Amino acid sequence: MTQALLTAFQLGPHLLKNRIVMAPLTRMRSLPGNVPGPMNATYYGQRASMGLIITEAAQVSAQGIGYPGTPGIHSPAQVEGWKQVTQAVHEKGGKIFLQLWHVGRVSHPSLQEGNALPVAPSSIAMTSQVFTNTGEMTAPVTPRALELDEISVIVQQYRDGAKNALSAGFDGVEIHSANGYLLDQFLQDGTNHREDKYGGSLENRSRLLMEVVTAVTEVFGNDRVGVRLSPHGSFNDISDSDPVKLFSYVAEALNRVAPVYIHLVEPRVSGGGEESDFHGESATPTLRKIFKGALISAGGYDREGGNATIDKGDADLIAYGRPAIANPDLAERFAIQADLNPYDRATFYGGDAKGYTDYPTLKA
Ligand SMILES: Cc1cc2nc3c(=O)[nH]c(=O)nc-3n(C[C@H](O)[C@H](O)[C@H](O)COP(=O)(O)O)c2cc1C
Repeated sequence: MTQALLTAFQLGPHLLKNRIVMAPLTRMRSLPGNVPGPMNATYYGQRASMGLIITEAAQVSAQGIGYPGTPGIHSPAQVEGWKQVTQAVHEKGGKIFLQLWHVGRVSHPSLQEGNALPVAPSSIAMTSQVFTNTGEMTAPVTPRALELDEISVIVQQYRDGAKNALSAGFDGVEIHSANGYLLDQFLQDGTNHREDKYGGSLENRSRLLMEVVTAVTEVFGNDRVGVRLSPHGSFNDISDSDPVKLFSYVAEALNRVAPVYIHLVEPRVSGGGEESDFHGESATPTLRKIFKGALISAGGYDREGGNATIDKGDADLIAYGRPAIANPDLAERFAIQADLNPYDRATFYGGDAKGYTDYPTLKA
């Protein structure tokens, strides 16, 4: 029987050759200026046999950065750098979306222009540590709450990021509203204590996400825009008093702007790919019933689990994170049910070609 993962899927205008998605994976290997370079193009090109690649998160502004060495999508040099990446993937017949990112409070003054405070919906510090610009881990600072008139500037940053992604040749973009970063900080009431039209009710807390999705779909068309959400996730100290109600509301609201997919991170794995201690219900079956577009599910999948989830109808596509780091030819390996290379966690974040472009393929 044909494996579900190996069947084609029509995602908006794109015919994906299989249902294996490379999950967005921060690798902290950009050139100075947060510019993607030739090594990044090689890495993504090596993985073009997966049906869809979603890039590592790329900050939409200098303010949106939270880790050293992550690529941006706000300067002309970054756009030029990304062109090499999209070209490398397209030459091998692949499809690639860029993940648009603003970390909000998950940053440190040493990474900000003029040592500014990171921004957030409310002045609430995280308890987990953050990166400095030299890659050390340190205690977080208390972020500055965004003024009401600054919020339209954030929306504009996403719109500009999407325009830049279009010029860089991306097939679409994914809006990162998961894992405790800025848009998730607005959604969830553990981090959003605002009393203006961006805080309080579900409608108000979802307003920034909806404005961002609307702005980005005006650039790319709604059939080339996806949204990543992590209901139940606790990475970066994120929490909500009623996540099921919140994310059901968000999925319903998204139906109105109709992004082509939602991409859900299963709670069993944290945003950084560590096993999490949450073993509650998955939100995927609930949101599957609500959201009318395509659904990508991520988090702890192997080949059998991915096929079973598609066969059950719970998802259309499955995203693989750590297996895609270690197996550039993941699709070919799944096809012949070959063993996978193990991943090397020590080389996940930062470094050189080791643990990046040197994982072996079955065919030399
Ligand atoms: C090294 C690493 C970097 C990650 N970077 C991102 C990222 O930039 N954006 C994002 O949405 N998720 C990120 N994640 C989460 C993954 O996309 C994925 O959801 C997670 O690894 C679970 O999938 P897996 O069990 O197949 O690895 C990262 C995970 C790892 C291990």
